[in-house]
Amino acid sequence: MLRFTLLWLLVFLFASISSSSARPAPYAMRISCGARQNIRTPPTYTRWYKDFAYTGGIPANATAPSHITPPLKTLRYFPLSEGPENCYIINRVPKGHYSVRIFFGLVEHEIDNEPLFEVSVEGTIIHSLKSGWSKNDEQVFAEALVFLLDGSVSICFHSTGRGDPTIISIEILQIDEKAYYFGPEWGRGVILKTTSRLTCGTSKPKFDEDYSGDHWGGDRFWHPIRTFGKNVDAPRSTESGIKKASTVPNFYPEALYQSAVVSTDSKPDLAYTMDVDPNKNYSIWLHFAEIDATITSAGKRVFDVLINGGTVFENVDVVGMSGDRYTALVLNTTVALSGRTLTITLHPKKGNHAILTAIEVFQVIVAESKTSPEEVRALQALKKSLGLPNRFGWNGDPCVPKEHPWSGADCHFDKSGGKWFIDGLGLGNQGLRGSLPNEISKLHHLQSINLSGNSIHGVIPSSLGTVTSLETLDLSYNFLNGSIPESLGKLTALRRLNLNGNSLSGRVPSALGGRLLNGASFKYFYR
Ligand SMILES: *[C@@H]1O[C@H](CO)[C@@H](O)[C@H](O)[C@H]1NC(C)=O
Ligand SMILES: *[C@@H]1O[C@H](CO)[C@@H](O)[C@H](O)[C@H]1NC(C)=O
Ligand SMILES: *[C@@H]1O[C@H](CO)[C@@H](O)[C@H](O)[C@H]1NC(C)=O
Ligand SMILES: *[C@@H]1O[C@H](CO)[C@@H](O)[C@H](O)[C@H]1NC(C)=O
Ligand SMILES: *[C@@H]1O[C@H](CO)[C@@H](O)[C@H](O)[C@H]1NC(C)=O
Repeated sequence: MLRFTLLWLLVFLFASISSSSARPAPYAMRISCGARQNIRTPPTYTRWYKDFAYTGGIPANATAPSHITPPLKTLRYFPLSEGPENCYIINRVPKGHYSVRIFFGLVEHEIDNEPLFEVSVEGTIIHSLKSGWSKNDEQVFAEALVFLLDGSVSICFHSTGRGDPTIISIEILQIDEKAYYFGPEWGRGVILKTTSRLTCGTSKPKFDEDYSGDHWGGDRFWHPIRTFGKNVDAPRSTESGIKKASTVPNFYPEALYQSAVVSTDSKPDLAYTMDVDPNKNYSIWLHFAEIDATITSAGKRVFDVLINGGTVFENVDVVGMSGDRYTALVLNTTVALSGRTLTITLHPKKGNHAILTAIEVFQVIVAESKTSPEEVRALQALKKSLGLPNRFGWNGDPCVPKEHPWSGADCHFDKSGGKWFIDGLGLGNQGLRGSLPNEISKLHHLQSINLSGNSIHGVIPSSLGTVTSLETLDLSYNFLNGSIPESLGKLTALRRLNLNGNSLSGRVPSALGGRLLNGASFKYFYR
């Protein structure tokens, strides 16, 4: 009896030592958009936080377009009156590599209204919804693998004039630092956007979680392709364990490899075609494990892998390359595609039939450089101080995505510093009310400011004299008072200065007066 207890004690000790030396659980943040309370969802008791960190929008009851959508009852949608771009800005995200996933929804009772919009992560567009998305499991969410290094993440939804962006959930799931390493171009400046993730030989859609996969895998979604065409393949499955499956960096679930398809005599090639965006680079990951009882050793089944007709892997021998039967083999390759289709073909060389477990396809996206954080803060101060109406938006990054810059802010890319700067502010006649904040002078690269014809009151900040690149300053037709700051005399590049139509008083700085000789146009006091 004592020996028994001791043995158990040892087993217990060993178990606790090995579990404490295992890596900690990955960071996971899941937001249920529009929810007023934290929620747990079946079957795995997943925790969803109530809605927070959004810049606008309206909560509503949700209709989930697909049974793979998380079972959440609410969503948030962003009508155009809330601005053309709206964001979730989530702070305190540890530095790392993440899978960011967004599920889209349909507002209850408006399910025929399928909105089309764009999604960006950290200023880079990762997804444009295509019509018909709500009827396709693979398109009811967007997913991208990104490095988050500055402690926060901004996920923005951009209206394209075709319905209101409508979001059910946001997940930020940490993955391995080296997950999906595909070669030297991989890294911090690159985002992998999930195009397709297919599991072969099974009929049920699965998440890593359904496969009891490791959380470091990022709870991937696997779309089932039961067959590659009529009579061309046969499903295979096994209950046997699979070696080398759940390993760094990708932690694929072991159970993924327990099903596969094998080609048949009627058509020895296994071929799969999918639609892709043209002129992009794709990272393609192929999964194999020899689970067919008829293949007993290396050399018995050998095939080539072709992409759009070009050979990318020659003489793939799953048993030979993985080291054994019932052992996972993962191959990846990166290809540039010019057309709109991607065809993956497995062509048998020995053994007459090819075998395939799963396919993953990612679009390789070069991440946008962002706007200098100091300038973003200055614009935010301006937004607040001038009471910029909601319709302006001014959420997320001012300059990127390049397709959706903030209206009224002109951007310039500084190649040497790798950052965007603001070189112009054009907000004339916009009905703005408020005062000019000192922070406006933090926009060091401004060449032009036009705030003419608004209802701006208070004084002209003397700090404006430090924006030495300024060539045009038009503050005419507002309610500015006080005197013209002496510091404006230091703006040696200034060619046009319109301060007329205000309630300014006092004298004109002498340094300004002298420069009129150069053909500059300065207007001061008259209304
Ligand atoms: C949302 O659903 C709840 C009950 O599930 C209901 O009480 C509420 O009125 C609904 N809200 C709207 C805006 O339809
Ligand atoms: C993907 O392929 C590249 C190039 O063949 C290889 O260096 C890399 O290790 C592979 N990545 C993984 C995670 O297996
Ligand atoms: C694809 O990758 C190549 C090599 O890294 C690069 O030169 C090219 O610009 C990439 N193309 C696109 C569309 O990203
Ligand atoms: C400033 O904007 C107003 C209204 O848009 C325009 O009429 C005016 O010419 C602009 N000023 C300058 C100096 O370009
Ligand atoms: C400018 O106008 C504000 C009211 O808008 C007033 O409080 C302030 O005293 C005025 N300043 C000067 C210098 O006239």
